[in-house]
Amino acid sequence: MRDVAVIGVGCTTFGEKWGASFRDLFVEAGALALDDAGLAGEQIDALYVGNMSAGRFIGQEHIGALIADYAGLAASHHIPSTRVEAACASGGLAFRQAVIDVMSGMEDIVVAAGVEKMTDVGTGTSVDTLTGAADREWEGFAGATFPGLYAMMATDYINRYGLTREQLAQVAVKNHYNGARNPIAQFQQEITVETVMKSSLVADPLRLFDCSPITDGAAAVVVAPLERAREFTDCPVRVLASAQASDTIALHDRRDISTLDATVEAGRRALGQARLQHRDIDIVEVHDCFTIAELCAIEDLGFCAKGEAGRVTEEGITAIGGRLPVNTSGGLKACGHPVGATGIKQIYEIVQQIRGEAGKRQVDTKIGMAHNVGGTGATVVVHILGAY
Ligand code: COA
Repeated sequence: MRDVAVIGVGCTTFGEKWGASFRDLFVEAGALALDDAGLAGEQIDALYVGNMSAGRFIGQEHIGALIADYAGLAASHHIPSTRVEAACASGGLAFRQAVIDVMSGMEDIVVAAGVEKMTDVGTGTSVDTLTGAADREWEGFAGATFPGLYAMMATDYINRYGLTREQLAQVAVKNHYNGARNPIAQFQQEITVETVMKSSLVADPLRLFDCSPITDGAAAVVVAPLERAREFTDCPVRVLASAQASDTIALHDRRDISTLDATVEAGRRALGQARLQHRDIDIVEVHDCFTIAELCAIEDLGFCAKGEAGRVTEEGITAIGGRLPVNTSGGLKACGHPVGATGIKQIYEIVQQIRGEAGKRQVDTKIGMAHNVGGTGATVVVHILGAY
């Protein structure tokens, strides 16, 4: 097995991008990543693309082939190009496939990308499309949506651990603060607890500002064997761990609906692979599709005890300047959540932080963790990256 490094990263701005097509988004992110690595397209050996549902969002399937074609690498080089789908964890899983390709010695230079164009359809279609990542026959048939499922988790959590509504709102306040310092973020304005509390109710107790938005965007990273990384960049970022775990697709089949066992397991495996302790991790990008999800993630990854994450957030421990900054990018909440691209954007953020290129949101980072969730936790992917 070979060691693997990230040698280039690129990301579009996130938001409602009327002027750009699905193809444009991918090509922009891919070109930025190749430029960052000082590579030409023909030097790439393989492509993986995280995408959840182009079939429903833009009516297009066969995304691996489409992307290779529009990257100019299909007819000229017949590059292997594969779509990876694991709902909102599609990006994290595409990165993992690229890492495994390089680690195994199968390929040398591999691009992992993620792309989603969600705003070409209305909110109702978006919400229904996303529901396809839950258990359609049971949860979907009964009328559950993702805001509804995470609201059930929040209600259970509040009842068991005494989380206050204000503590939940603090997650959104922190992530909007960070998003206001991120030039690619969908929402770049700071908010207050009052903004969250006065926003419209989506699924009790979750309000508009507890939810990640509907987003267009793409991100791409290039990985290579660590031993070759310095041919391309002065600041390679080493992949220290790549772990994946699964759980039941339906929330009602879980042992405990406010603990994501797949997060517990993927986090444990990742730390074991990297031979690291929690105290070694400087920053974490977690999958805050809803504010409650960030609190569960911090606990399930083992950074604090169950029931403590609300207090930890309130005390500023997870803020920029705190002991464990969480979601310096603004997270899914403020940076935006183009579902197939989110896992790659998390890697992009960690790489920027390790390289010292995160501008106004820079924190001292040698090692960072990325946590990407599909559905309510049926797929979880955790990566750990470190300075080299
Ligand atoms: N946070 C903050 N503001 C938001 C927002 C969010 N999540 N979503 C929309 N807005 C803002 C818009 O910018 C817009 O503001 P403006 O009037 O100043 O321009 C306003 O709210 C209305 O936007 P609109 O797009 O009409 O919202 P909507 O009511 O159609 O959709 C949600 C809101 C919460 C239903 C939708 O964002 C949603 O479904 N989010 C969850 C996505 C999801 O489930 N992802 C997968 C997770 S597993």
